[in-house]
Amino acid sequence: FTVDWDASAAEKGGWPSFMDKEIHEDPEAVGNTLIGRFNTAGDIVLDEVRIALEDFKSIDKIIVVACGTASYAGMVAKYAIEHWVRIPVEIELAHEFRYRDPILTPRTLVVAISQSGETMDTLMALRHAREQGSRVLAICNTQGSTIPRESDAVLYTHAGPEIAVASTKAFVAQVVAAYMLGLYLAQIKGTMFPDEIRGIVAQLKAMPAKIQWVLDTQCETVDKAAKRMLNAHSFLFLGRHVGYPVAMEGALKLKEIAYTFTEGFAAGELKHGPIALVDEGEPVVVIVPSARGRNTLHNKVISGIEEVKARGAFTIVVAEEGDPDAERYADVVFWRPICPTLLSPLVDVVPLQLFAMDMANLKGYDVDKPRNLAKSVTVE
Ligand code: G6P
Repeated sequence: FTVDWDASAAEKGGWPSFMDKEIHEDPEAVGNTLIGRFNTAGDIVLDEVRIALEDFKSIDKIIVVACGTASYAGMVAKYAIEHWVRIPVEIELAHEFRYRDPILTPRTLVVAISQSGETMDTLMALRHAREQGSRVLAICNTQGSTIPRESDAVLYTHAGPEIAVASTKAFVAQVVAAYMLGLYLAQIKGTMFPDEIRGIVAQLKAMPAKIQWVLDTQCETVDKAAKRMLNAHSFLFLGRHVGYPVAMEGALKLKEIAYTFTEGFAAGELKHGPIALVDEGEPVVVIVPSARGRNTLHNKVISGIEEVKARGAFTIVVAEEGDPDAERYADVVFWRPICPTLLSPLVDVVPLQLFAMDMANLKGYDVDKPRNLAKSVTVE
């Protein structure tokens, strides 16, 4: 008696691809990255961060270095940490960093974000930062890999092994780890009241269920949109504020696995050039901020949608449940549940991950092993 057994299929646990499995693990990746980081009073404790409290308190600037998807997690971190901690946060592609002679002092914290912990560009950037006397904190998903080993401190993401080349669950986990770092700094520097921090933590703890809601309710709409857009040659992705890095990440996913030409950019930049690309039928994906409160960003992004629609674009938008403007101006809407703006990347990226995967599947590509790419790039 023999059983046909395929180790890889077994590891996929019934999912058609690792990417599909890993996108569906987004909620767990977020939840697990939060576990064990609070004491009984609800304060944030980052035990594994082995930097003396006084040194941590003295940090007056953060520079995030990363590549690819991790760099977009770093962009999200900039918006959140600057808002909460009121210190400047720069985000830089790791391969550009050391060649421009960056200004580094002992009070600069360099945050190296890497899923694999082996990306050579990021490793060289952190080595440079340490040589210049700055401290380096790694946000990493791989225990014992080179980047955390060579850093002064590490904040592990607990996304579990990520096998598909295109990063998905690692991204949401990186964003959560960056939020935790920001809230911890706000706590020790006293830039926020403890109740404010606890309020955000409570919202963060609610995010896995919100991501699950997206997975449970939006897959069909995403799949239909992918079928409809199968013959599109290029896509524009635009977003503002934290929607900007999400747009960049959505564009990268589609490029990486569906081999489609995409450009992600800040929505406000539309009128300064990219609008020239918009023609009849051009697909434009827009991340729409919440319409709640007096959100001027919402109106600005909506008028961007009107602009591209007037030129014949096909618009796919990610918008908050019940947003009447999204219904009015979009050809397709991927809904997000209500959540605070700074935390919205955790849900907004999910339909874009699914969309890229669906497009690649429909085109018959191997979503787990896209051509020309490696999971971890260990050369400079
Ligand atoms: C490669 C992968 C990307 C990844 C980037 C950074 O280019 O193809 O998916 O985002 O490396 O990888 P890291 O392991 O440092 O997060």
